Amino acid sequence: MTQLANTKFSLNDFELRDGIYFPSDYEQLNNTQHKKTWDAIGKTYYGSQKIEKLADTSPIKQDYTLLTGTPGGTWNKFPLNKSVGSILEIGSGYGRAPLHLSKAKNLRCEKYYGIDISEPLLRRLIKVKQEYNFFPEAEFNLICTSAEILPLEDNSIDLVISNCVFMHIPDAQLRSLLADISRVLKPGGIFVFNHSFHNKSCPSHIIHNFVRKLNPFVRNPVYLKQYSSAEINEMLASAGIQTKCPQYIVEPTEEYAILPETIKGIPVPFAKAINRSLKPSDALKETLAYGFSAYSSQLD
Ligand SMILES: C[S@@+](CC[C@H](N)C(=O)[O-])C[C@H]1O[C@@H](n2cnc3c(N)ncnc32)[C@H](O)[C@@H]1O
Repeated sequence: MTQLANTKFSLNDFELRDGIYFPSDYEQLNNTQHKKTWDAIGKTYYGSQKIEKLADTSPIKQDYTLLTGTPGGTWNKFPLNKSVGSILEIGSGYGRAPLHLSKAKNLRCEKYYGIDISEPLLRRLIKVKQEYNFFPEAEFNLICTSAEILPLEDNSIDLVISNCVFMHIPDAQLRSLLADISRVLKPGGIFVFNHSFHNKSCPSHIIHNFVRKLNPFVRNPVYLKQYSSAEINEMLASAGIQTKCPQYIVEPTEEYAILPETIKGIPVPFAKAINRSLKPSDALKETLAYGFSAYSSQLD
């Protein structure tokens, strides 16, 4: 947490260096374990550093999916050819979600705001943007900070997106962040939080939690809280998101897991095959789903 609750910030309070905005207390943020962890992960994340090492003739240069894979889940429901004024992405990483939305869905925007705690990942996003030129007409604003109080105007954002990030943000901070997302979202704006929450009743997480407790000295620094769909609904309601976006859905993801696929980095025999073979009834989906997404009912 780097900023005081109830304090409004604007990008004017940030310093722009080499294409990224930094808060005035950046040195303090650099000393947090959370940032050190994501900076370290960011240096190798998904092998994305490959692009600058490849020859121009490499297939990856022509086909972004060979670098990033294709993000699925709620993004499959995202409409084609949508055009918005502004997009805010929480935990943009190196830009997998916006790259996919721009290329596969022809999403267009005038302004893109990408917030991430990891400077190496934002530096990589700049490289990925140079390579694949996603959102070609947009003004890019990359902000390296811990997402909580957003340095953006009230009612200024048309679309807020986030992919696999909220499970890494502690509960109290996530609540402040969701309230601030509600503040910056325009009335009638939309949001997509894809694969954003881990499911507390998923057996795989329960086994993992048990194994983690066996050795209290070894903590996984990127792993945080899990929620039920009722808890996610309560958090979104407390954040006041329906004042801007009256109708939204909290939905189990389509990945199900009864066994962890690795424990302490060691593959669990047959776990992947067993998990992939699960075809739960509607009644069991909320129990077996790996996580939840939340998104505006009207994506178009
Ligand atoms: C699992 S990665 C997902 C990245 C990206 N959305 C994607 O799909 O490739 C989680 C991301 O959240 C970022 N992150 C973690 N905690 C954060 C925080 N407190 N504030 C902002 N970003 C954070 C990490 O740096 C990382 O980029």
